[in-house]
Amino acid sequence: MPATDMDQVVTLCKNRGFIYQSAEIYGGFRSTYDYGPLGVQLLRNVKDAWWRSMVQLRDDVVGLDAAILGPPAVWKASGHLDTFTDPLVDCRSCKERWRADHLPEPDPKDAKVHCPNCGSTDLTDARAFNLMFKTHAGPVEDDSTVAYLRPETAQGMFINFKNVIQTTRKKPPFGIAQVGKSFRNEITPGNFVFRTREFEQMELEFFVPPPDSKQWFEYWVAERFAWYVGLGIPEAMLRIRPHEQEELSHYSAGTSDVEFMFPWGWGELEGIAQRTDFDLTAHAKASGESLDWFDQASGERYVPYVVEPAAGATRSMMAFIIAALDTDEVGGEQRTVLRIHPRLAPYKAAVLPLSKKDTLTPTAREVLGLLQPHVMCDYDETQSIGRRYRRQDEIGTPWCVTVDFETLEDRAVTVRDRDATTQVRVPIDGLVAHIMGNLAAY
Ligand code: GAP
Repeated sequence: MPATDMDQVVTLCKNRGFIYQSAEIYGGFRSTYDYGPLGVQLLRNVKDAWWRSMVQLRDDVVGLDAAILGPPAVWKASGHLDTFTDPLVDCRSCKERWRADHLPEPDPKDAKVHCPNCGSTDLTDARAFNLMFKTHAGPVEDDSTVAYLRPETAQGMFINFKNVIQTTRKKPPFGIAQVGKSFRNEITPGNFVFRTREFEQMELEFFVPPPDSKQWFEYWVAERFAWYVGLGIPEAMLRIRPHEQEELSHYSAGTSDVEFMFPWGWGELEGIAQRTDFDLTAHAKASGESLDWFDQASGERYVPYVVEPAAGATRSMMAFIIAALDTDEVGGEQRTVLRIHPRLAPYKAAVLPLSKKDTLTPTAREVLGLLQPHVMCDYDETQSIGRRYRRQDEIGTPWCVTVDFETLEDRAVTVRDRDATTQVRVPIDGLVAHIMGNLAAY
């Protein structure tokens, strides 16, 4: 049973070192989070699994790592300076700020909208608030030095389209993939790391001949849905939801979201958008550089259409935790177990000497040293073996390797499986092959 209680998820994340409140010793920095020793590992594994599927296993996608800071010209051309806004209303009485579309309907008693915080009706008119973070590049803070932190990784790929086709000899259909931080001055951040002001995205811009864009759109919707399922999210917790016309972003001619059943209801994990030639045409016009493609086979010149699967890394990491968090009974005792896909698990193995006695330590350290070049490992020699198993179950370690007194005689260790709790005896010499074989089976 996946987690249905957000408090349980937040508590596990904090207590086990997945996610901490940022600047906690200063009282916390609202809606900003730090990824702890296990969180950084899990997040990295989510991003690596995405990169493996989207870049490594394909010959029609190349990677990119573009700058986070960008000049206003990029964001003017992309439409973000003019349209990436939320309508905002201020309460003059308590000074709280609200998204206009999140305010309650007018109260039938006086036909007025009331501030949800203090009940006042003294509210300003709605005004557009741009979600981009603005800063200055260099020591002088004037209009000539204005720069923006990117609100999506996508634009870095559009403005490098020409560089990439010239340097890689790729031709449509092909894609550019990027993983990295994005920043949005969200008015209503919340639901833990679901909506934050600093987050990570995993985006693909797939450039196709315009007549083929519908077919590629359908292909990517199916591929991306299958990616989450392949990494252990039950199909029943996922759905595809096509956008209504009025919720489409300014660049999109059609979008479908992959949604996940969060404890509070369905929420977006990823949007797959038909961006048409909106971005390449806009940047070509604004920069004066031609961003089209000459197809030698047909003798045709055209601006490729773009199909964009855009996922959140931090948001999907939380979804993977929620889907994997489970409780069951082992030996008459309740246990919490994170049944996370082994490819995503922060540690693949934990080496546990049965006792802290000096006699076992050298062999346990030898076993750890054998595994470490291949997989991330934990090493734990404190407390009873039962408690150590529970701790590893809770953080999702798929295999516990126990070094006991027999090991000194037979040079074999016990490997315990997290989900089945079954144990097998494996010779130390074959341990790396055993763990790697287990991992490859997923
Ligand atoms: N380039 C298109 C684009 O950025 P988006 O739907 O705004 O599309 C893509 O963002 C994904 O990024 C979302 O599906 C979500 O997973 C993630 N995301 C967007 N805003 C976020 C936020 N404030 N906090 C965490 N993740 C966010």
